[in-house]
Amino acid sequence: MSRHQAVRNLDYEDVLDEYDANDADIDDEGDQLTAEDREALSKGTTDVQDALGEDARKVSTEQIEEALWHYYYDVDKTVGYLRKTIIAPPPKTELKKPKETSNRFDAAAAKSAAIAKMSTKTSPKQRPNGTAPAEKINALSLDEPPPAKSKKIDVIHEFTKGQNKRSASFVVVGHVDAGKSTLMGRLLLELKFVEQHLVDRYQRQADKIGKGSFALAWVMDQRDEERERGVTIDIATNQFETDKTRFTILDAPGHRDFVPNMIAGASQADFAVLVIDANTGAFEKGLKGQTREHALLLRSLGVQRVIVAVNKLDMVGWSQDRFNEISEQVTGFMKGNGFQLKNVTFIPISGLSGENLVRKPENPALSWYTGTTLLQALEESEPLTRALQRPFRMSISEIFRSQHSQMTVSGRIESGTVQTGETLVVQPSGESAHVRCIEVDADLQDWAVAGQNVSIGLYGIDPIHIRVGDIISSKTEPIHTNDELVMKVFAFDHLMPMPVDVHRGRLHAAGRIQEIRAVLNKTTGAVEKKKPRLVQPGKVARVVVKLESKVPLEAGQRVVLRMGGETIAAGLI
Ligand code: GTP
Ligand code: MG
Repeated sequence: MSRHQAVRNLDYEDVLDEYDANDADIDDEGDQLTAEDREALSKGTTDVQDALGEDARKVSTEQIEEALWHYYYDVDKTVGYLRKTIIAPPPKTELKKPKETSNRFDAAAAKSAAIAKMSTKTSPKQRPNGTAPAEKINALSLDEPPPAKSKKIDVIHEFTKGQNKRSASFVVVGHVDAGKSTLMGRLLLELKFVEQHLVDRYQRQADKIGKGSFALAWVMDQRDEERERGVTIDIATNQFETDKTRFTILDAPGHRDFVPNMIAGASQADFAVLVIDANTGAFEKGLKGQTREHALLLRSLGVQRVIVAVNKLDMVGWSQDRFNEISEQVTGFMKGNGFQLKNVTFIPISGLSGENLVRKPENPALSWYTGTTLLQALEESEPLTRALQRPFRMSISEIFRSQHSQMTVSGRIESGTVQTGETLVVQPSGESAHVRCIEVDADLQDWAVAGQNVSIGLYGIDPIHIRVGDIISSKTEPIHTNDELVMKVFAFDHLMPMPVDVHRGRLHAAGRIQEIRAVLNKTTGAVEKKKPRLVQPGKVARVVVKLESKVPLEAGQRVVLRMGGETIAAGLI
């Protein structure tokens, strides 16, 4: 895993520690380039030139070496950086460009590399192997724009009067290896948000490590570990747009070990694409595994609209019978779990070959199908209604340094509105922070509203007071913290007084079911039994959960209870 990718998974505080440690490295190790470095630079330069093709003429060897050094010889990132900053600096409509890295931290890294270019002190040859660009990050602060003044905008008025393109986020879920990342890679390729030559390069690289069938998945799976193992580990985001809508993809991991990351993705989504592997045995296995768990979690987290992509139909000869069999079983299952069938659509596809994603199928074997393509189904999915009038709340999914602000947090605005110059409260620390800038779909804007995925640059807060999973909220109506939650839950497993983890977005809190107040009637909510010793699976109950520390959770929020890697209940505070 490259250093910057590793950084993405750390807390902000850890990141700072890391840079501090590396400051020391710079002093200690001097400026010798080891034989290993030289070899990596030389090989990397050839690979980058290879990947750039014709464009290689537009950059000097020195520029390539500089970027390679900065990205710790990561060829993909180097190519991405060179393309973005030197070969084709982004025009204003940046959104149309394919996204080569999934990590906004890289943008900051790229920026600091650019700054470093101006400094003789930090030429590549002076940087010992493995050191982070600490001086460059410091240089970044000089470049920060002064804090913004509040323009006191009536955001709701601006939003409602504007001709805004619709924006919608969807999470892609399903059992491990169902083909979620491949499907998204193919969709982005078909829509030309990813270039063919990039996929060709992934193909060559994937072939080399015996993972040739994962080349399209690599569009989403950017971490080295994900590529080596052939599994998605954490949510990867990417964007594309059609004439009507700007979509944000949240590609979730299917592996059972990473369900908490899937929960984080599902809690940012307007709707979901549930991918099912139609192969003999694979569908049945999934239905006992994460197809089932993910569907339950979607329902529990309030996602109502689900497009069921019946995938890998190429492997069962595009069988209409198999498609019908799967659709029937999944329909029964979804109905049993409280989904309204008008919100569930079934689409036969092959993510690998791209059949029925963007264009109507041309394959005669699929002539029995006359319904919509996947893209049409995505466009027909209405985003959730936006809770504009409620106080501002946003759960922090990522913290990083961006081009515009040293401390940038990203996530989806759950409710309310936000504008530059505004003061916010971060919970559970209770500290204030000011909004320096707001980025929506890669454009800087004065304001943003509920439902949008945004990056917010903050200032005036010490990094130790802000972490992934925290909630930022309006200063006038801040979210409060709590260590005792009374909730109405649906039990997936037996519940009794026992330790549990409470999950909401990226927030995880350890606690204990302290008390079971009552078992309730599923439809009327009336008390069926007071103070039972145990809640049976399938029952609804009112329970009290005591947490080890105070966390920002409030009434009306949906949470998931897990224990020992299993989802045991979900419900409403
Ligand atoms: P996780 O994120 O780890 O849960 O996996 P995933 O659902 O993202 O699956 P991924 O896209 O990594 O694909 C898994 C394997 O299935 C790869 O070898 C793909 O080539 C293969 N695959 C995906 N879609 C199709 C398809 O439509 N047809 C065929 N034949 N194979 C497919
Ligand atoms: Mg995947």
